[in-house]
Amino acid sequence: MCGIMGYIGQRNVVSVLVEGLRRLEYRGYDSAGIAYLSKGEIEVKRSVGKLSSLESILPTIPPVSPAGIGHTRWATHGKPSEENAHPHRAGSLVMVHNGIIENYLSLKKTLQDEGREFTSDTDSEVIIHLIDSFYQKGGSLEKAVQRATEKMHGSYAICVLSEKDPNRLIAVRSGCPLVIGVGKDEQFVASDIPAFLSHTRQVIFLEDNEIALLSSEGVEVHDLKGARLAKEVQQISWDPVMAEKGGYRHFLQKEIHEQPRAIVDTIRGRVAQEAGNVILGASEWVGDPAKDYKRAVLVGCGTSWHAALVGKFLFEQIAGLSVEVDIASEFRYRDPLLSEGDLVIGISQSGETADTLAAMREARSKKTPTLSICNVVGSSISRETDAVFYTHAGPEISVASTKAFTTQLTALTLLAIFLGRKRGRLSKKAGEALIHQLILLPNKIEEILAHEKRIKTIAKHFFRYRDFLYLGRGILYPVALEGALKLKEISYIHAEGYPAGEMKHGPIALIDENMPVVVLALKDKVYEKMISNVMEVKARGGIIIAFAEEGDNDLPGLADEIFFIPKIASVLSPILMTIPLQLLAYYIAFTRGSDVDQPRNLAKSVTVE
Ligand code: G6P
Repeated sequence: MCGIMGYIGQRNVVSVLVEGLRRLEYRGYDSAGIAYLSKGEIEVKRSVGKLSSLESILPTIPPVSPAGIGHTRWATHGKPSEENAHPHRAGSLVMVHNGIIENYLSLKKTLQDEGREFTSDTDSEVIIHLIDSFYQKGGSLEKAVQRATEKMHGSYAICVLSEKDPNRLIAVRSGCPLVIGVGKDEQFVASDIPAFLSHTRQVIFLEDNEIALLSSEGVEVHDLKGARLAKEVQQISWDPVMAEKGGYRHFLQKEIHEQPRAIVDTIRGRVAQEAGNVILGASEWVGDPAKDYKRAVLVGCGTSWHAALVGKFLFEQIAGLSVEVDIASEFRYRDPLLSEGDLVIGISQSGETADTLAAMREARSKKTPTLSICNVVGSSISRETDAVFYTHAGPEISVASTKAFTTQLTALTLLAIFLGRKRGRLSKKAGEALIHQLILLPNKIEEILAHEKRIKTIAKHFFRYRDFLYLGRGILYPVALEGALKLKEISYIHAEGYPAGEMKHGPIALIDENMPVVVLALKDKVYEKMISNVMEVKARGGIIIAFAEEGDNDLPGLADEIFFIPKIASVLSPILMTIPLQLLAYYIAFTRGSDVDQPRNLAKSVTVE
């Protein structure tokens, strides 16, 4: 949470920072601020609310400034206010921070005893006072930052600018992401790559306990003892245009429409259709390919947890591998029982979610092999797991996850096929048939997207309702959870996902004419049971919005609204079924006037526990 950005170079610092912060706004948007040098002095501009309110107080004439730092905040300590907004200042220094300093109260007390005055309620302000107190005792700014990190407990990514040394920026991380953009006579540092993607695709990923010293001439990375480290500069393949809205009204709408392409990119190069198999690169699978696992433990948060729940069905049905699913924030605190033959798989779009990262560390501490399914290349989780299977969704900017989810499901399907073949549970013929279906998926998604207007009409009928229930069975139960999550995240309507068979154990008490019930139904072995659930809802005056398979002749006569998805292998139905639910949430939220891309109180990347 929180996005930080720093720039050093010849461009207009203010506009580079604002442009970068706009790309980072998904990480938090309750206040924003920048600091830059103006006539040798540091100027700080901060404002409550979104970036647009900061922009209104920025100078119209660009300052001649060699460097600057910026921040977009998601409040943890201290309410959203100008005083609590970053950058924070102490002496000749300013700093932006992402993370949480757990021992800030004791540090603050010591610093106050030294006579230092604080102007905010944040934990972050303590950091800059700490650095300044070392800096004032003499020595370089780098040394002062190093010494401060020795005192700080918690997670941080920080960037510091000094009035006395204006041609240098210092950045350091521990537990929060930081990536450096290497340009020609200019350097960038940010919480995420899209912040500077329009300027450079050359990046250095900073690891925990590494300090970066940026000047317009270049970047040096040191360890906390000051020794220089040789860091690889990597080329990012993302196209800057991918991080633009490209004619769509919102990033969310664009990202929903990008799913056919994202799925093609995730499958590309990984299937050998005739062999009915999946080919994984050496870094995409853990250990000896011939070695079998007895159990997989899938962990994730939010939408990625829903992907894990679908993954359980995929691994069990396709590969015959027993699976346990855990919410990442629960996993590490219950001292999970892991044993020989287990594989822990962490699913995370950002690769930075603190709970998922902690869960993977927990697994590694127990010597259990780890694999991650991540979207962001070079992210913390991808680097800290034994192997990583990247989804190729491209940058996902909108806070609510869409294309990351369906590419996670694609990745899980590929892994299930790989495991199924390896374990002898999936024949060559069945593998070939499944891969064939997988390849057809993007076109089938296009077919659904072509009927977007129909969903828009349904949304117009229902946008005023206050509660929704989503029902699914089997592999569509996690999709019901995801559909409900999407609606509540972006429209602020209360929505619950339930396995349809559980409805009679509680939710049925809520059903009346004010409760639309979204039903997800396939013509499978539980179809008749789903029809019974629909009848139970109707008998209580509930409204049915059904999402069914083409060729279903029963539901149209029972449902108040119906939308058909093309036929597909049932293990792939979660991907198709998700698309109209994303569109439904999008159009309901849009019709209600919600801030679709940046819903209140949420952040895309949750780097605090
Ligand atoms: C936040 C986002 C969700 C996301 C979850 C997990 O809550 O708002 O959209 O599903 O984090 O994020 P991850 O990056 O680990 O998939």
